[in-house]
Amino acid sequence: SEPEFNEPFRPQYHFTPPAMWMNDPNGMVYHDGEYHLFYQHYPDSTVWGPMHWGHAVSEDLVHWEHLPVAIEPDEHGWIFSGSAVFDADNTSGLATEDNPPLVAIYTYHDPVGAEAKRDDFQTQGIAYSTDRGRNWLKYEGNPVLKNPGIRDFRDPKVSWVDDKWIMSLAVKDRISFYSSPNLIDWTHESDFNPSWAAYGGVWECPDLFPLTTAGGEEKWVLFVSINPGGPNGGSATQYFIGDFDGKQFHVESREVKWLDYGADNYAGVTWSNVPEEDGRRLFIGWMSNWTYANIVPTENWRSANTVPRNLELVETNGDYLVASRPVKELDMLRNDTHKAEGSGFSLDHELVEILLTPNQEKFKVEIGNEKGERVVLEKNGDQLVFDRSQSGITDFHEAFSKPHTAPLNGLKIKDVRIYLDRSSVEVFINDGELVMTEVIFPTEHYNRVSLSGFSADSQVHYLNSIW
Ligand code: FRU
Repeated sequence: SEPEFNEPFRPQYHFTPPAMWMNDPNGMVYHDGEYHLFYQHYPDSTVWGPMHWGHAVSEDLVHWEHLPVAIEPDEHGWIFSGSAVFDADNTSGLATEDNPPLVAIYTYHDPVGAEAKRDDFQTQGIAYSTDRGRNWLKYEGNPVLKNPGIRDFRDPKVSWVDDKWIMSLAVKDRISFYSSPNLIDWTHESDFNPSWAAYGGVWECPDLFPLTTAGGEEKWVLFVSINPGGPNGGSATQYFIGDFDGKQFHVESREVKWLDYGADNYAGVTWSNVPEEDGRRLFIGWMSNWTYANIVPTENWRSANTVPRNLELVETNGDYLVASRPVKELDMLRNDTHKAEGSGFSLDHELVEILLTPNQEKFKVEIGNEKGERVVLEKNGDQLVFDRSQSGITDFHEAFSKPHTAPLNGLKIKDVRIYLDRSSVEVFINDGELVMTEVIFPTEHYNRVSLSGFSADSQVHYLNSIW
């Protein structure tokens, strides 16, 4: 039976594992009316260890049904991050044309090889399901992509591009692209590692996909998570905008861009096989940071995901950015709407969405409780600062209290939307053109908001719990 999901800090509308450890979201694929979400999972402990793929499904991206562990370690190693596709034409030959398979492509991490300091301990394997993702069989010929002798060789993200499968793979300090007709035989095509990119840590969890602007212009986007080396310390996701010619990624703007300036959005990638009539590029990230992920003060489980987001390409002065917009399905959580007048108001509910309109050069929002625990979001000059130093429990790691800064680069702030759950705050500026995702651990629910620099028409939505 489902646990109660009511422990201190247990998110009430963000995805969490029922118990034990979770990191990266994996294998997101839409299939037959269901959004599948797999995740890096250690079912025996609340800290990172031998990785499995945990599993859940949703029909609306908001309510999740937990399913048994989908993929377990075997003689080739632990099951690290990767992706899943619907092999509609049965190119793999793993099933039949009448009932084509879902195929998961993941990294095998061989702990024995790693321990022995061999260099080839990460390889890629596949598993498949012919029963809507409920049971997974490993391919007998695993691994399908052997290691050429590079220690970090992982996190395959596969998609169908024109007439073949393309795999983006994180290989130490570069992204390698491989192609395949059948998900089994892979050919190296090219590498991407421009000298000016961010290399403060190892490259992980790539994603490659096209996005179209409102004006109809198509660009290819490459996500690369990096740990450490993020703009506010620790783990973060950089991205590049350019073109993919079927073999090689050509970057257009020679500038490091960051998907999120908060500390807690890592290893996020997008859903595959979302129906064309939907047309969205749906994303979810791991809402934590390797700097302290293993020691945050939760007991029965560790970590949550971000709210799902729809990625859109926005043109700004001849350049482009990827906006992360909260998916519209989240609106179904709203149960009660209030107009909030004046410079302060109280909250009668712990789960809220707050919509604010700045009307001055500077602004400041404080959300907190009677004990004085609070978070502060402030616009000052050309930057946005998020301060969680007084947010509640912070002493598990010294870096946790450091304020986080996002450069605005002249961005005019039109609206601020804040999602508050029991242990997170997500700030969306201009419907996701700038995002700060942050975890917090208040010892009492926040119930007070004070504002300066905003017009009087703030709106507050109280949100339902999904449990
Ligand atoms: C990213 C990551 C991946 C790896 C997985 C292991 O957070 O380090 O590169 O596959 O986590 O759990």
